[in-house]
Amino acid sequence: MTAISITSRRNWDPVVKLTHWTIAAAVLVNGALTEGGSWPHIWVGYALCAILALRLLWGLVGPAEARFSAFPPSPAKAIAHIRDIRAGKNHMEPSHNPLGALMVYAIWGTLGVIIATGITMAGLPPHAAEHHKASARAMVAIASDADEDEDAGGSAQDSPLKDVHETAADLLYVLIALHLAGVIFETRRSGRQIVLAMIPGRR
Ligand code: HEM
Ligand code: HEM
Repeated sequence: MTAISITSRRNWDPVVKLTHWTIAAAVLVNGALTEGGSWPHIWVGYALCAILALRLLWGLVGPAEARFSAFPPSPAKAIAHIRDIRAGKNHMEPSHNPLGALMVYAIWGTLGVIIATGITMAGLPPHAAEHHKASARAMVAIASDADEDEDAGGSAQDSPLKDVHETAADLLYVLIALHLAGVIFETRRSGRQIVLAMIPGRR
């Protein structure tokens, strides 16, 4: 606990760093590598749920700059922050800046919708192994061992939950693109290496 982290550059605590990169990895894996509804997708999903829960708990009991109270969702502050940017003012924020804070809550909220709909479709962990995706799709039909779960009624194939899950995933990709644009913009504007503050092992 030195004053350096406040005055010269931020350094997130290990829980924030760990949860950030594991959440990012889980989103990448489930968005790009696993098939929706497959067991790897569902288990990565449970892990994502646990990691997000840890980060949210940390928002209550973690160090000052990781707490929700350090970055309240405030449109008014976000607008004031945009004014500061336009006026060329450059404050060192102790936590997420007010615009970044809105993005953080938007990402968490969207993840919450994805997780809630995903778990509702898949069931809680003891039942997940029994979950089978409807094998109507050609790809699955070719790849799977013949008649696995052909017409089981357990699929969420046409369910509105699935639509919400997929739409929220699409929204998440948009938010992530904006998040990365924000990180690049803020790095250039402030001249601070904000990404380094998120890299594990740095002090
Ligand atoms: C950021 C994380 C996630 C992303 C990006 C994501 C994305 C998707 C997408 C795009 C689909 C539709 C795929 C398709 O039609 O083949 C899907 C389906 C599904 N996802 Fe996720 N998902 C995520 C997290 C989760 C979680 C947390 C769970 C539950 C623990 C979950 C459970 C499911 C299930 C059960 C389906 C299959 C619905 C069906 O066709 O029967 N997903 N996911
Ligand atoms: C799927 C991808 C990603 C997701 C879902 C994501 C999500 C988030 C979230 C929720 C936070 C808030 C952290 C917290 O307080 O716990 C955050 C912060 C941050 N992320 Fe990401 N992120 C992703 C990818 C990345 C990548 C690839 C980079 C770097 C190139 C990055 C750089 C940062 C930085 C620098 C912060 C801190 C911003 C600040 O100083 O206020 N993120 N991200």
